[in-house]
Amino acid sequence: MSGPGALVTPPPAAPRRVETERMVLSAPGPGDREEIAGLLGDPSVGRWLGGTLDPVAALGALDRWSGHWAAHGFGLWIARDRAHGRLVGRGGLSMTVVDGRAEVEVGWAIVRERWGQGLATELGAAALAVADGPLAVRGVVSFTLRDNVRSRRVMEKLGLRPELEVVHRGLPHILYRRPAAGA
Ligand SMILES: CC(C)(COP(=O)(O)OP(=O)(O)OC[C@H]1O[C@@H](n2cnc3c(N)ncnc32)[C@H](O)[C@@H]1OP(=O)(O)O)[C@@H](O)C(=O)NCCC(=O)NCCS
Repeated sequence: MSGPGALVTPPPAAPRRVETERMVLSAPGPGDREEIAGLLGDPSVGRWLGGTLDPVAALGALDRWSGHWAAHGFGLWIARDRAHGRLVGRGGLSMTVVDGRAEVEVGWAIVRERWGQGLATELGAAALAVADGPLAVRGVVSFTLRDNVRSRRVMEKLGLRPELEVVHRGLPHILYRRPAAGA
């Protein structure tokens, strides 16, 4: 049935706010600007994300992440520590194109002083739970520079498996994919 008064099923949407054991994950907002500029301007983080961003470019990234939520009903979260509210990182699900194909990617970036505490893995697990649950996305991918051993380890811990080497922005990357349940 269609026309006025017809019931329309809304497209699946991800929660805009999720609590994990140590973090609150929220869709981006204006209150995140300053700390996100700090994260994206840090060379130890930017080195793995295609380069650092100045504050204006970081603001543009934040706007794009908000636009992605509006367009797709899911997107990257801003991660804050539950205990004191300070920025931990950003990550979650986003649309990407790899090797000419549209894919749902899981990704993460954590502030330098919090590396090695399992936070990217905790964030990634929350994102995959959303992919499995409300979004029902199969075959989530993640990709990184070949020598990003930390990110590759997070992918492995989350159950993704290396699938192929791809050139992204002119640099060698490795693409991981999460096998479908039971595969
Ligand atoms: C990649 C990144 C998100 C990892 O965050 P994190 O919170 O430190 O990740 P976790 O603590 O969940 O896991 C990191 C794993 O890498 C391992 N690791 C750390 N340094 C390593 C090294 N030099 N060689 C091999 N493994 C290493 C850790 O031991 C850990 O694995 P384990 O739990 O089996 O011990 C973080 O380093 C970061 O923000 N990097 C810059 C941005 C980035 O690279 N984003 C991904 C782009 S695809």
